Amino acid sequence: MDKIKHKIMVMSNKGGVGKSTVSVNLAFGLSEQGKKVGLLDADLHGPSLAKMSGSQGNLLSAREGRIAPLEMGGNMKIVSLALLFGRQDEPIIWRGPLKMKAIKQ
Ligand SMILES: Nc1ncnc2c1ncn2[C@@H]1O[C@H](COP(=O)(O)OP(=O)(O)O)[C@@H](O)[C@H]1O
Ligand SMILES: [Mg+2]
Repeated sequence: MDKIKHKIMVMSNKGGVGKSTVSVNLAFGLSEQGKKVGLLDADLHGPSLAKMSGSQGNLLSAREGRIAPLEMGGNMKIVSLALLFGRQDEPIIWRGPLKMKAIKQ
Protein backbone atom coordinates (compact mmCIF):
# COMPACT_ATOMS: atom_id res chain seq x y z
CA MET A 1 0.00 0.00 0.00
CA ASP A 2 2.93 2.40 0.61
CA LYS A 3 3.62 2.33 -3.13
CA ILE A 4 0.32 4.16 -3.61
CA LYS A 5 0.79 7.89 -3.08
CA HIS A 6 -2.83 8.85 -2.49
CA LYS A 7 -5.59 6.57 -1.30
CA ILE A 8 -9.22 7.64 -1.45
CA MET A 9 -11.71 5.40 0.28
CA VAL A 10 -15.40 5.78 -0.52
CA MET A 11 -17.52 4.03 2.06
CA SER A 12 -20.72 4.10 4.06
CA ASN A 13 -22.71 1.76 6.25
CA LYS A 14 -25.64 1.99 3.93
CA GLY A 15 -26.32 0.56 0.50
CA GLY A 16 -27.64 2.50 -2.45
CA VAL A 17 -26.35 5.89 -1.37
CA GLY A 18 -24.03 6.47 -4.34
CA LYS A 19 -20.64 5.00 -3.28
CA SER A 20 -20.06 3.27 -6.58
CA THR A 21 -21.24 6.27 -8.59
CA VAL A 22 -18.87 8.59 -6.72
CA SER A 23 -15.97 6.10 -6.94
CA VAL A 24 -16.19 5.49 -10.65
CA ASN A 25 -16.56 9.21 -11.43
CA LEU A 26 -13.61 10.10 -9.18
CA ALA A 27 -11.51 7.45 -10.90
CA PHE A 28 -12.33 8.58 -14.42
CA GLY A 29 -12.01 12.25 -13.47
CA LEU A 30 -8.56 11.76 -11.98
CA SER A 31 -7.32 9.57 -14.81
CA GLU A 32 -8.49 12.16 -17.33
CA GLN A 33 -6.28 14.65 -15.47
CA GLY A 34 -3.36 12.35 -16.19
CA LYS A 35 -3.17 10.66 -12.78
CA LYS A 36 -2.40 6.97 -12.56
CA VAL A 37 -5.52 5.46 -11.01
CA GLY A 38 -6.33 2.06 -9.56
CA LEU A 39 -9.96 1.36 -8.79
CA LEU A 40 -10.59 -1.41 -6.27
CA ASP A 41 -14.14 -2.60 -5.81
CA ALA A 42 -14.14 -3.69 -2.17
CA ASP A 43 -17.84 -4.49 -2.38
CA LEU A 44 -17.56 -8.26 -2.53
CA HIS A 45 -21.29 -8.85 -2.14
CA GLY A 46 -22.56 -6.45 -4.76
CA PRO A 47 -19.68 -5.51 -7.04
CA SER A 48 -20.90 -2.97 -9.58
CA LEU A 49 -17.75 -1.11 -10.62
CA ALA A 50 -17.02 -3.43 -13.54
CA LYS A 51 -20.39 -2.67 -15.07
CA MET A 52 -20.23 1.04 -14.21
CA SER A 53 -16.75 1.47 -15.65
CA GLY A 54 -17.60 -0.37 -18.84
CA SER A 55 -15.19 -3.22 -18.19
CA GLN A 56 -17.76 -5.94 -17.63
CA GLY A 57 -17.24 -8.97 -19.83
CA ASN A 58 -13.50 -8.97 -19.21
CA LEU A 59 -11.82 -11.46 -16.90
CA LEU A 60 -8.93 -10.81 -14.55
CA SER A 61 -5.86 -12.96 -14.96
CA ALA A 62 -3.28 -14.08 -12.42
CA ARG A 63 0.36 -13.09 -12.52
CA GLU A 64 2.84 -14.94 -10.31
CA GLY A 65 0.02 -16.34 -8.20
CA ARG A 66 -1.61 -12.95 -7.66
CA ILE A 67 -4.56 -11.15 -9.13
CA ALA A 68 -3.49 -8.87 -11.98
CA PRO A 69 -5.59 -5.71 -12.33
CA LEU A 70 -7.42 -5.19 -15.61
CA GLU A 71 -5.78 -2.44 -17.67
CA MET A 72 -8.54 -0.16 -18.83
CA GLY A 73 -6.47 1.94 -21.17
CA GLY A 74 -5.32 5.42 -20.37
CA ASN A 75 -4.04 5.53 -16.80
CA MET A 76 -6.63 3.32 -15.22
CA LYS A 77 -6.63 -0.17 -13.78
CA ILE A 78 -9.48 -1.93 -12.05
CA VAL A 79 -10.04 -4.92 -9.79
CA SER A 80 -13.56 -6.08 -9.09
CA LEU A 81 -14.89 -9.42 -7.98
CA ALA A 82 -17.28 -9.23 -10.92
CA LEU A 83 -14.22 -9.62 -13.18
CA LEU A 84 -13.13 -12.86 -11.50
CA PHE A 85 -16.20 -14.80 -12.47
CA GLY A 86 -17.52 -15.20 -15.98
CA ARG A 87 -21.15 -15.46 -15.00
CA GLN A 88 -22.82 -12.45 -13.40
CA ASP A 89 -25.46 -14.56 -11.62
CA GLU A 90 -22.97 -16.91 -9.96
CA PRO A 91 -23.27 -16.88 -6.15
CA ILE A 92 -20.09 -16.40 -4.14
CA ILE A 93 -19.79 -18.02 -0.73
CA TRP A 94 -16.77 -16.54 1.01
CA ARG A 95 -16.14 -16.31 4.74
CA GLY A 96 -14.65 -13.33 6.58
CA PRO A 97 -10.95 -14.35 6.51
CA LEU A 98 -11.03 -15.14 2.79
CA LYS A 99 -12.73 -11.81 2.08
CA MET A 100 -10.07 -9.91 4.04
CA LYS A 101 -7.35 -11.78 2.16
CA ALA A 102 -8.89 -10.87 -1.19
CA ILE A 103 -9.18 -7.17 -0.26
CA LYS A 104 -5.59 -7.07 1.07
CA GLN A 105 -4.21 -8.69 -2.07
N1 LIG B 1 -26.29 11.97 -6.77
C1 LIG B 1 -27.23 11.07 -7.14
N2 LIG B 1 -28.48 11.47 -7.39
C2 LIG B 1 -29.44 10.59 -7.77
N3 LIG B 1 -29.23 9.27 -7.92
C3 LIG B 1 -28.00 8.81 -7.66
C4 LIG B 1 -26.93 9.69 -7.27
N4 LIG B 1 -25.81 8.94 -7.07
C5 LIG B 1 -26.16 7.66 -7.34
N5 LIG B 1 -27.47 7.58 -7.73
C6 LIG B 1 -28.21 6.36 -8.09
O1 LIG B 1 -28.49 5.65 -6.89
C7 LIG B 1 -28.36 4.25 -7.14
C8 LIG B 1 -27.36 3.65 -6.17
O2 LIG B 1 -26.08 4.20 -6.47
P1 LIG B 1 -24.74 3.36 -6.23
O3 LIG B 1 -23.61 4.23 -6.63
O4 LIG B 1 -24.85 2.03 -6.88
O5 LIG B 1 -24.79 3.19 -4.64
P2 LIG B 1 -23.90 2.27 -3.65
O6 LIG B 1 -22.64 1.92 -4.36
O7 LIG B 1 -23.69 3.14 -2.44
O8 LIG B 1 -24.75 1.09 -3.33
C9 LIG B 1 -27.98 4.09 -8.59
O9 LIG B 1 -29.15 3.78 -9.32
C10 LIG B 1 -27.41 5.43 -8.96
O10 LIG B 1 -27.57 5.70 -10.33
MG1 LIG C 1 -21.91 -0.01 -4.84
